[in-house]
Amino acid sequence: MTKQPIDWSKLGFEYTKTDYRFSAKWEDGQWNDGELLTSEYMTLHEGSPALHYAQQCFEGLKAQTAEDGRILLFRPELNAERMHNTSLRLSMPVVPHELFLRGVHEAVRANASWVPPYGSGASLYIRPLLIGVGSNMGLRPAKQYEFRVMVCPVGPYYKSGGLSVISLAVSDFDRASPHGTGDVKAGANYPGGLYATKKAQELGAYEALYLDAAEHRYIEEAGSANVVISLANNTLITPKSAAILPSITRRSIIDIARHELGMHIEERPIDLRKEVDSFVEVAACGTAAVLSPVGKIWFDNKWHYFYGNGEKVGPVMQSLYDILCQIQKGERLDRFGWTHAVKL
Ligand code: PLP
Ligand code: COI
Repeated sequence: MTKQPIDWSKLGFEYTKTDYRFSAKWEDGQWNDGELLTSEYMTLHEGSPALHYAQQCFEGLKAQTAEDGRILLFRPELNAERMHNTSLRLSMPVVPHELFLRGVHEAVRANASWVPPYGSGASLYIRPLLIGVGSNMGLRPAKQYEFRVMVCPVGPYYKSGGLSVISLAVSDFDRASPHGTGDVKAGANYPGGLYATKKAQELGAYEALYLDAAEHRYIEEAGSANVVISLANNTLITPKSAAILPSITRRSIIDIARHELGMHIEERPIDLRKEVDSFVEVAACGTAAVLSPVGKIWFDNKWHYFYGNGEKVGPVMQSLYDILCQIQKGERLDRFGWTHAVKL
């Protein structure tokens, strides 16, 4: 496979136009078969509910090239399932798993020359999108929908690049409320966070860290990633909350920590101020973020430092990162059955 003439090592997490995107349409209760399109533009009716009332959701997953040239998807069926749950919450038609997975496979296969080669450190980010379209004015579900899968080669999400240490600042703003939409991947969960991220960045942090909306006491998650924390006694803790996105990366990291590192796992409310002194290593995790060690968190007007005075990657996060990436790139026996090769 001839690859695009790109310096893969220079890629950040940016949009790059690739050759094809998959698009399927829903109308009168039915999905069509879908097709590959060459244009990156969409023509939308000005009344589209996606534009007015944010009746829209998305997903994110990655494809990586293995040493033998296979293109591996990481747990795509869980993205299909999460989009299913999001769609129900937003009164959108469910994209059948078969259609979701076919759209992902077709979009990746058609853009195989854009999948970064093995060893490049980059990956192909896959962005499935479901939007409510068509003529409308009142607050009601759309009568037509488009399911689209676009793909872009990407490098590291945070500017620090690779496995390097980031920082978070606790936000005064809330991301999601206890019975809201925080546990689904609605686009509407994100624009409120743009201002919170700006405020966090003014403090010198990479991203905002949200606490629970009711008491501003328990850790929820970062703007684009969940949080995992290691304690001194071989324990990994992670927030339990109905308002955070159930991260597929976190779920995988928990399994790796439990089954590969023999760690004890606790998914429970984490009282930031009461417990911060017991945190040894902290990390943000997600498809884009992978596993990004967090060296320090800003709250109550000061920085709180973790492993290595907030400057070094600790051994637990290093091991979790290594094992996760090795599985994703086919370098390690996939005992969990998480990777799926795209038929080329
Ligand atoms: N939390 C938020 C708010 C996110 O946007 C994401 C990214 O998808 C995650 C967590 C991580 O989820 P996943 O690991 O499934 O990508
Ligand atoms: C992902 O990690 O896939 C996401 O969707 C996060 C996004 C804010 C870039």
